[in-house]
Amino acid sequence: MKRKLVAAQIGCGKFAWQQDLKNLSSHPDVDLKWVCDVNRTNAEKAAEHFSVPHRTADVLEVIQDPEVDFIKIATSHEAHLPIIEAAAKAGKHIFCEKPMAMTEEEAYRIIRAVRRGGVKLCVDLNRRMAPALQALRRKFLKQEVDPRHNPWRYVETERALLPEEDLPHLLIRIQDESSSYGLGHLDPLTGGGQIIGESVHFLDLACWFFAPLLPREITAWGSSRLSHGIHLRFEGGASMTLDFSCSGTFDFPKELYEVTGKASLFRSLHFVENNYYGMPEDAPEFFPLQRDPYPEMGEGFAAFLSKSRKRLTGSANAKALENTVPLLPDKGHLSMLDAFLRAIREDLPSPCDEIAGFRSTYLARRAIESLELKRTLSVPLEKITPCIQ
Ligand SMILES: NC(=O)c1ccc[n+]([C@@H]2O[C@H](COP(=O)([O-])OP(=O)(O)OC[C@H]3O[C@@H](n4cnc5c(N)ncnc54)[C@H](O)[C@@H]3O)[C@@H](O)[C@H]2O)c1
Repeated sequence: MKRKLVAAQIGCGKFAWQQDLKNLSSHPDVDLKWVCDVNRTNAEKAAEHFSVPHRTADVLEVIQDPEVDFIKIATSHEAHLPIIEAAAKAGKHIFCEKPMAMTEEEAYRIIRAVRRGGVKLCVDLNRRMAPALQALRRKFLKQEVDPRHNPWRYVETERALLPEEDLPHLLIRIQDESSSYGLGHLDPLTGGGQIIGESVHFLDLACWFFAPLLPREITAWGSSRLSHGIHLRFEGGASMTLDFSCSGTFDFPKELYEVTGKASLFRSLHFVENNYYGMPEDAPEFFPLQRDPYPEMGEGFAAFLSKSRKRLTGSANAKALENTVPLLPDKGHLSMLDAFLRAIREDLPSPCDEIAGFRSTYLARRAIESLELKRTLSVPLEKITPCIQ
């Protein structure tokens, strides 16, 4: 196969500027040939800034280019299905932003389209590729298989453990400032709100974390559009609780992950620092940022907070800093892109395929149903493992 894969960016909005356009235009194995946006000005600006030779407002022009190997979609959510159907039919591989689909029906049609087209699809549910979360899972699995404890562990010697006493649990706490969400993300036709738009990340992460266990039961509460909670129970009893608050602040990092199991605690602080408790191998691990304007200030969570303060001091507009002084922890975007390129070149399974995309959409929809009905719902096996011709 040729050395560089030819790419086209579809959708040149905020996220594309933050990740895709930078990552694709600077990747040694990618030749970014096209940018496309229904808003022609957005395509023009992106082409100019990232020196992309071709621009268009018509996605079909891109898809009909025989040189294009894959497209990257970062449009609003409702546009995914027609773009994916056309691209798959033309034999183009597809890297699609989350959520892959807004409804179960759309997801089924996407699965069918990529299978019939014989192309690879990767959904950018990137948290599963974040180095910090990969390390967290490795440590967790090691402790599950070969539990080791500190010598001073408090043990009640008079009784054996009860069956439900040692089930693993993943807690995900998100605190976000809701003014950061554009109206398009909250509009039921183009975005669908935070459960479908954002919590697909965490539903996917839980499925990946506890794989091969499958989720069997879901309970949700709050607002599907903004703050909410979700409890997801897996076969055998492992579980995930998501607490998603939109009334937080950009002054503090957004994501916290905590896993308990086998009398130990595994914690990841916003992708930059992991801590381990209850086991002898408990040295913290630090993870470099994806983009770090202040490498001299050190690593870890405390350093990240200091960098964040330094960056904001004297600025009148935090939003304007996003592209000019990016301070990004490594949430796995580049690793996902690398794994997808490898999957195309070496004909390997996609790092986050159409079934993962379907599963997160289905669970998000089921969560919304649970929240509206105010009750726990089953996750039937035949629903979570669809067979599509
Ligand atoms: N993986 C992540 O961590 C992450 C983070 C943020 C956003 N996202 C995703 O990125 C996507 C875009 O979000 P955003 O904040 O950049 O939105 P945005 O509104 O800023 O950008 C979307 C762009 O797509 C264009 N567009 C819409 N329909 C189109 C079509 N049919 N063909 C071509 N262009 C079209 C719009 O004109 C706009 O420029 C969303 O799906 C969002 O969920 C992912």
